[in-house]
Amino acid sequence: MSIVYLNGEYLPATEAKISVFDRGFLFGDSVYEVIPFYQGIGFRLSEHLTRLEYSLRALQIKPHLQWEPILNELVRRNGGGNLSVYLQVTRGAAEKRTHSYDDTMQPTVFACCTPIKDIYTAGADDVAPMKVIVTADLRWHRCDVKCNGLLPNILVVHQANAQNADEALMMRDGKLTEGASCNVFVIQQGVIYTPKRGSEILGGTTRELIMQLADEHTIPWQEVDIDYEMLKAADEVWISSSTRGVVPVIEIDGEPVGDGDKGPLWRTMFELFIRYQQQLMTGKQ
Ligand code: PDD
Repeated sequence: MSIVYLNGEYLPATEAKISVFDRGFLFGDSVYEVIPFYQGIGFRLSEHLTRLEYSLRALQIKPHLQWEPILNELVRRNGGGNLSVYLQVTRGAAEKRTHSYDDTMQPTVFACCTPIKDIYTAGADDVAPMKVIVTADLRWHRCDVKCNGLLPNILVVHQANAQNADEALMMRDGKLTEGASCNVFVIQQGVIYTPKRGSEILGGTTRELIMQLADEHTIPWQEVDIDYEMLKAADEVWISSSTRGVVPVIEIDGEPVGDGDKGPLWRTMFELFIRYQQQLMTGKQ
């Protein structure tokens, strides 16, 4: 039985209960993070916590908690190892359902763990490439805030699955934004292109790492507007997220990307990732 964290307590998942008046449930009035832990150690934990604070500030939710000890303890109680931690903070429960809220509400804090594969000890040949569809981005205009209210995201993933694809890439005003739960990269003649950071995309922690590694190894990258033609003409396309790492896309809307196989620059980036994680893990132990 997995142990979850709820408002200061560590409990078996079946015993954790929240109010039906919780604003996270009624309005999606909440933010979240998904943080991988490898061998019990948080991977880029401080980057995730910085983004969490940013999202909380944007919604003016003020839980006033020290996150690291809470998450480390949760991971320890779930046996350590390779886990993805889901952390959600809602504005809390009022006495009745009403759109307005007051600033004194006590936030609800929930966290749970799911076992994950250690993607970075796998070889490049073990990574399953992805098929994607391209569809309209119907989300609000604060996608930089990692909030719940993920209805547009789940609907496009369902649409992708119905078309035998794994993920949906979204476009707004003719420009590529991101995937339902990942950032996106388009590779053309050895250059990594990615949509500009701003309120239309989430500032992904894995996206940041890809840029950092590219800088360290003098691989050119640029933030640019990417239209459908540029996407379809790419030599390689990648997606990135904390739980998936950097993954090659080999098919878009039923047609192959490049030669339809994992690309050479992806293999380079994947190797850099593995090395980075190994150094980080050895440094922390
Ligand atoms: N998703 N864009 C969106 C819309 C996301 O939901 C995510 C992460 C990312 C990548 O961010 P990061 O590299 O920091 O994980 C980009 C998580 C994993 C999720 O919702 O499960």
